[in-house]
Amino acid sequence: MAGVLLADAQNLSILDPAGPPAESIRGLFVLVSAITFGIFLLVEGVLIYSLVTGRRRAGPGDPEPPQVYGSKPIEIAWTAGPALVVFVLVLLVGRVIWEVQPDPDRPPAGAEPLRVTVVGHQWWWEYRYESYNGRELGFVTANELHIPTGSPGTPRPVYLTLQSADVCHSFWVPRLGGKTDLLPGRTNQMWVQTDEPGLYQGQCAEYCGTQHAHMLIRVVAEPPAAFEKWLAAEAAPAADDPAGRAGRAEFLSLSCVNCHTVRGTPARGTFGPDLTHLMARQTLASGTTPNGPADLRRWVNNPQQVKPGCLMPAFALTEPNLNLAVDYLETLR
Ligand code: CUA
Repeated sequence: MAGVLLADAQNLSILDPAGPPAESIRGLFVLVSAITFGIFLLVEGVLIYSLVTGRRRAGPGDPEPPQVYGSKPIEIAWTAGPALVVFVLVLLVGRVIWEVQPDPDRPPAGAEPLRVTVVGHQWWWEYRYESYNGRELGFVTANELHIPTGSPGTPRPVYLTLQSADVCHSFWVPRLGGKTDLLPGRTNQMWVQTDEPGLYQGQCAEYCGTQHAHMLIRVVAEPPAAFEKWLAAEAAPAADDPAGRAGRAEFLSLSCVNCHTVRGTPARGTFGPDLTHLMARQTLASGTTPNGPADLRRWVNNPQQVKPGCLMPAFALTEPNLNLAVDYLETLR
């Protein structure tokens, strides 16, 4: 089940960055690795050289080799050398921290910034779309972050405001940027940006309870036209599909509405993911299973079987009621 999702070409390598913050991090990684590897070679080289050239079989009656107690030049060298290395590393890290830290109030010239508030929940992601290129958005979706790709001369930075609804989580999409924590009672910021359309995968990177491993991140980067289309579809209220009318009444009579919102209906709960365009998402339960009619039915019937410990209870619906509710959910495209 998880295997199916893993199979869709997961690339979680920090060595294959697709945007500026991730590039800065790769640069730092390569440089620090090179410096430390150089030091390793030097130290091991001197050690092996001394072992080989200083080797002499001791005879019975040989005096002890000369014993050296302190040498000012050597002590100065082994204090100054490492201090210099640490100083260089501090400068390198300082530059990268500066580069990955966003300044949402001063986007680069000609940019069309997207602003999204990300709220970490046990165990899913809430995405509140705030604004795009100065235009207010104000809709909420879950588990699949869509972002526009930049074009020549028009960077499209995405400024993420990170918050938590419960415990500590960490947002990490290796090809787009470094880990940034979502902490209760604190707001963090990060930014990502890419010119390459595609699916970028990530993972909650801070242990947050039983289903931490099933708190996957999917970032869909698409060209501006496709992104605009997605925005318009997401911003619209739920479609009133005749095929789902009977099921809708059933759904609205269930306790689903206490936790879930379906915009355009009386369902206004905010504890669980917004379901207004549920079927437009590729996965269910934050990447736990693919999203299709059979999976959806299995999920609604008994979420604890699919994602043990998750906060959605099984409602023990009768067969006809389950069918009605799922029929309705399937119309939420
Ligand atoms: Cu959320 Cu780990």
